[in-house]
Formats: sequence, structure tokens, C-alpha cells
Amino acid sequence: MGEGSQKPTILVIVAHPALEESRANRFMTDAIRDIPNARIHSLYKEYPDFKINVAKEQKLALSADVIVFQFPLYWYSSPALLKEWQDRVLELGFAYGNGGDKLKDKTFFMAVTTGGPELSYQEGGYNKYSVSELLKPIEQTAIACQMKSQPPFVVHHVHKLSDEELRRQAQRYRQLLEEMVQLYVCS
Ligand SMILES: Cc1cc2nc3c(=O)[nH]c(=O)nc-3n(C[C@H](O)[C@H](O)[C@H](O)COP(=O)(O)O)c2cc1C
Repeated sequence: MGEGSQKPTILVIVAHPALEESRANRFMTDAIRDIPNARIHSLYKEYPDFKINVAKEQKLALSADVIVFQFPLYWYSSPALLKEWQDRVLELGFAYGNGGDKLKDKTFFMAVTTGGPELSYQEGGYNKYSVSELLKPIEQTAIACQMKSQPPFVVHHVHKLSDEELRRQAQRYRQLLEEMVQLYVCS
């Protein structure tokens, strides 16, 4: 369990360069804000200059039982600051290599929004690969850090979704996070 806490703690690392202008990711963060022991950590708000405080981020990651990456899909991957977070925070001796087992057995989960429709994310479609396939490098990063990776939650074609549908998807996201906490308790 996270330090000093009975309930599992969830760290939701949100990587959206302009969260205040977002629709989909805003609905999602709004839906999970009051989950007990969930902390929403907006990377672009914290580090607009990309200068990540590695010690602070490692402490945050250490204190969490469930680590979530939430982001809009940008060029088939995450926005750049989340890659910077991985490059800087998942250090040798912390996340991998000798003594690098600090994230071992934490649950890892991605929540991703796309502009493209689901049908385009398949063989023969415009985007050729499914979002799950495209996210494999990030998933494997978590696995290499000995985390337990869960299948990603993906909301496709978000610009075409009504507020009502986005709200519904955001509630599904909330439900999944709550289930993840249960899973962690039972594992
Ligand atoms: C730089 C950039 C790259 C993008 N790349 C993709 C992409 O590869 N695939 C896709 O489906 N949508 C892509 N999009 C669309 C975003 O995923 C979409 O605008 C976002 O999920 C909407 O979420 P929001 O309402 O929270 O901003 C891109 C958008 C931007 C600005």
C-alpha cells in the first residue's frame, strides 16, 4: 500500500498540453477527481518548461499503488512531456537494473483519447494498427519496470462525441479505476 495509507492510492499522471481547452480529457479528469485516494497530477501544469523534478516525481510514484498515464494520442504516442517523464524518472537503480525495483508490483494503466475513429485503427484502416498495439512501447516500459500492466482504456473519435457520450465514457473510466483498486486489494 502507499505510504501511510490503508486504501490503495492512485496516481493519475495527466499529460495534456492544454487541459483547460480540452473536452475529452477534462471530462475524464472531472469524473475521477473525487475518487478517494486518487491524485491527479497534471504534468504540463507542473512543468511548463519541461524541467522535471525527478526526486519529487519518484517520491510520488513510490507512494502510489496504481499508476495511470492519461493522455490524448499525439502522433501515435503520448505528448512529449510524458516521454520526458519516462526518460528522466524511470532511472537505473530506481525503476530498473541493480536495485531498481521501486515500482515492482504496482498496477499500471493507460487512459487514452484519439481523434481518429475506431475503425481506422485496424489492419487495412487509415491508421493500420490498433491503439493497444501502438501503445506497446509504453506498456513494455511499465513491464520492464516490473509493474503489472492492465489493458488500456481508449476513447476514440472524441471530437465527434457529444458531451453526454463523453460523460458516459468518463464514468466508464472512473469505474475501471475503482475496479483496479479492488484488483490491487485482492492481488
Ligand atoms: C499534435 C497532435 C497530434 C495528434 N495525433 C493524433 C494521432 O496520432 N491519432 C489520433 O487519432 N489523433 C491525434 N490527434 C488528435 C488528438 O488525439 C485529439 O485532439 C485529442 O484526443 C482530443 O482530446 P481533448 O479533447 O482532451 O483535447 C492529435 C492532435 C494533436 C494536436
